[in-house]
Amino acid sequence: MAFPQSFLDELIARCDIVDVVSSYVQLTRKGSNLFGLCPFHSERTGSFSVSPDKQIYYCFGCKKGGTVIDFIREEENLPFRDAVQVLAKRVGMEVPEEEGNRESTRRRGRLLELNRDAARFYYQLLQQPEGRAVQAYLDRRKIRRATAVNFGMGASPDAWDVLLNAMTQKGYTKSELLDVGLVVQNKNGRLYDKFRNRLMLPVIDTRGDVVAFGSRVLDKSEPKYMNSSETPVYSKRRVLYGLNLAKKSKRPNIILCEGNLDIVTLHQAGFDNAVASMGTALTKEQISLLSRFTKELVLCYDNDNAGKVATERALQLLNGSGLSVKVLQLPRRRTEEGELVKQDADDFIKNQGPGAFERLLSGSENGVEFRMEQIAGKYDLSSDEARVAYSAEISELLASLPGAVEREIYAFRAAETARITPDAMKQEIQRARKRWIARENRAELRKELNPAASSQPKERSLRYDNIRSARAEEGVLRLLLLDDTLFPAEPPLREEDFSSPLLGRVFARLWQARTEGRTVALPLLAGELSTEEMSHITAICQRPESLKNGGRALADYIRVIQKEAEKRSGSKTDPLLAAAEKYKDKKGEKRNVK
Ligand code: UTP
Ligand code: MN
Repeated sequence: MAFPQSFLDELIARCDIVDVVSSYVQLTRKGSNLFGLCPFHSERTGSFSVSPDKQIYYCFGCKKGGTVIDFIREEENLPFRDAVQVLAKRVGMEVPEEEGNRESTRRRGRLLELNRDAARFYYQLLQQPEGRAVQAYLDRRKIRRATAVNFGMGASPDAWDVLLNAMTQKGYTKSELLDVGLVVQNKNGRLYDKFRNRLMLPVIDTRGDVVAFGSRVLDKSEPKYMNSSETPVYSKRRVLYGLNLAKKSKRPNIILCEGNLDIVTLHQAGFDNAVASMGTALTKEQISLLSRFTKELVLCYDNDNAGKVATERALQLLNGSGLSVKVLQLPRRRTEEGELVKQDADDFIKNQGPGAFERLLSGSENGVEFRMEQIAGKYDLSSDEARVAYSAEISELLASLPGAVEREIYAFRAAETARITPDAMKQEIQRARKRWIARENRAELRKELNPAASSQPKERSLRYDNIRSARAEEGVLRLLLLDDTLFPAEPPLREEDFSSPLLGRVFARLWQARTEGRTVALPLLAGELSTEEMSHITAICQRPESLKNGGRALADYIRVIQKEAEKRSGSKTDPLLAAAEKYKDKKGEKRNVK
């Protein structure tokens, strides 16, 4: 365990779950519990419950649950230690250093300090004669001084070891400089500055730490952009350029672009909600980061093939993320020679001005419109054949929309594009909708007939290899949490007796706490389990269990678990028996699922 148990105990004791949850969810009392609308899934009736006695929450709809710390982890999308920090701050407790992490925390701190000092160094250089070339470049790109300052821009000198010397003089070691990637080593072992004669763009995370650098050449040479490699303080999957500023924006959404300088121009033009993924594909980690700061994301990728592919990919990845998504398509521009060329956000603002961008933003399409256009683009709609094919494909897309009004509105548009009557298009969509519903129903039916295949949880630790034993193990845990006086002084089961390693681990942990004379309760598991595991255990405790015959039930559960455990240890020695048992198990499982 990372934090001392005494600290976690006190934290949980001080952070009353009803208090904490109430600042996110409106709760009303019903009996001994409080209920409200679940913050983790959308619903109209409150299935989200909080138990002040057990100090846990549980949603009967989406089945998420856990302690006050798990609540903050889920709600604020934070890792365990950050959630602990949030709660500690709330009640004014000092967070102790994590055991064993002290050294790596110290090293991280040093590397971040080094990055900050380097950023200062580059920044100061930009204001001096050595920074003239970069300043001239900024002027050419119409980046104002205030904007450059806002982004902490700098200039790297046109030399091989100026940063290396300046930072070693400040007391940083060569290995620290290598670790953050500011310095590289050639074949002969000589060290030299990685960034030379470039516009420097510090990459600052949402905590305000300088985690990396982006940089751009001042002429046409290659590589155009050079960024820090992955380092102990920088994982590019988890960072978005400009989010440190965009998170403070008053605008209702966040705009995601491809290029660093696109967002610099956007911020300068008043769109201080722009961020860039720095030339890489959007990741799941970035999506979960974004969803901490906004509810709506506007994709603004380049209007070329690569940009369209990136948009389609991002739309798929964003599906089910909880973020609502729009696509802003930048129009192509006609050159004086009459050629159509793509422009990025930077070009567009410079050519058409902020007002035009604002109009694009407010008119930006949702994912459906984007996809409709992609489909239309595939067909030459002057031929009858193509119009038929277009209508067929578009009705498949529209048939999958859940809302009737939505289907109707887009049907009109599609009819216009295909130049057929709206009625004909609507009929086509209705037929497609029937097929679509039939397909969905079949999928549902398959799920019902074979629940094991489709409803198996994703996390490995939540899957059960032996359902019969696992149900009994769940029962033991439930009883232990409900009334531990049913249990003898000596543990009736060993951890290995459990067929589910997760349930075994939870049992061992609770039992240990019991022997230490502590109250056996779910908060003891804080920090030991992932939020999914915690939800699973919380769900187990919600199932009804009668305490009237608790002793009998416990004895039954224990007997089942021991018998199954014996089978397992026996089967290890005799492969033939093992095969036979497995066959029997399978049959047993099927019966049990019912
Ligand atoms: P683009 O090549 O589209 O350039 O790269 P841009 O943003 O329009 O750049 P300017 O306007 O010429 O300055 C888009 C993004 O891809 C990353 C950078 O983050 C860039 O902003 N990139 C591009 C690289 O990482 N390396 C490269 O060599 C090129
Ligand atoms: Mn550009």
